[in-house]
Amino acid sequence: MSRRAQFLEVLGIPAEWVLRQRDGGGEPQAIVLPEAAEAATADEPRSGVSAVPNVPAVSIAESRPVAEAPVAAAARAAVPTPPAEAPVTIARAPAMPSLVPAGPEPGSAQADRESAIATMDWPALEAAVAGCTACGLCQSRTNTVFGVGDRQAEWMLVGEAPGENEDVQGEPFVGQAGKLLDNMLGSLGLARGRNVFIANVLKCRPPGNRNPEPDEVAQCEPFLRRQIALLKPRVIVVLGRFAAQSLLRTTTPIGKLRGTVHTYEGIPVVVTYHPAYLLRTLTDKARAWEDLCLAREVHDRAGAGA
Ligand code: URA
Repeated sequence: MSRRAQFLEVLGIPAEWVLRQRDGGGEPQAIVLPEAAEAATADEPRSGVSAVPNVPAVSIAESRPVAEAPVAAAARAAVPTPPAEAPVTIARAPAMPSLVPAGPEPGSAQADRESAIATMDWPALEAAVAGCTACGLCQSRTNTVFGVGDRQAEWMLVGEAPGENEDVQGEPFVGQAGKLLDNMLGSLGLARGRNVFIANVLKCRPPGNRNPEPDEVAQCEPFLRRQIALLKPRVIVVLGRFAAQSLLRTTTPIGKLRGTVHTYEGIPVVVTYHPAYLLRTLTDKARAWEDLCLAREVHDRAGAGA
């Protein structure tokens, strides 16, 4: 079975989703997906009920920078599918205002801590995470969850924070959501531990799976920043609203962050839904496939020096 077919099967994407073919019937450039204006503002609703009506198809190949033509506007305009030879356009997101206060006071203990983390190699970083007591989460954790994977990987995935299973096992995405994530990776030719590195914004589990607090994110961010700097991935795929908003320092809803390419420290970032949310929401599984097609395009272009 082709990767594409496997992915469609894994995600349960209905038969009406149509793949666009390159000239000559080669690999698809992008999947043609129904899109809705509501979807651009939806923010990973907790309900499993889809809010997406049956609207005409739009292709991500049509997207442009948000300032020119937001995904929502494109959806409203119900742009027809372009001819197969139309070039794929990777939309770049405009700069977003930062919601996170400027870094620590120069010379402060926090500034010194961040400077030290910024020079660590992998073993030192892993040890620093394992021994971290910078926020209260150290009191309730069983294990820190540093991240897992190939430290030369070209792909990096970033989730929110460890859950119960991850806290026990010390590895990210080992529960049901992790199984879906592994299947999604497999469909892209990636595998945990081989050509992708998986990490979280937070390295310790928030008790009861509550949302992370801003101070916890602030204390943990230097670790993720250093992981990214050491890894230098070609593309970062951010999983879910919380991770996307933390990494990109914005309160923009995930529906608006999807479909364009953001950057973090100069590295392209593609936003998609969290696998735990995808387990509940069939329609957004299809959108996740669209996002991964975009990420693959970004990855391949980075490799080609584009
Ligand atoms: N959800 C996440 O965001 N990360 C994990 O590691 C597990 C669940």
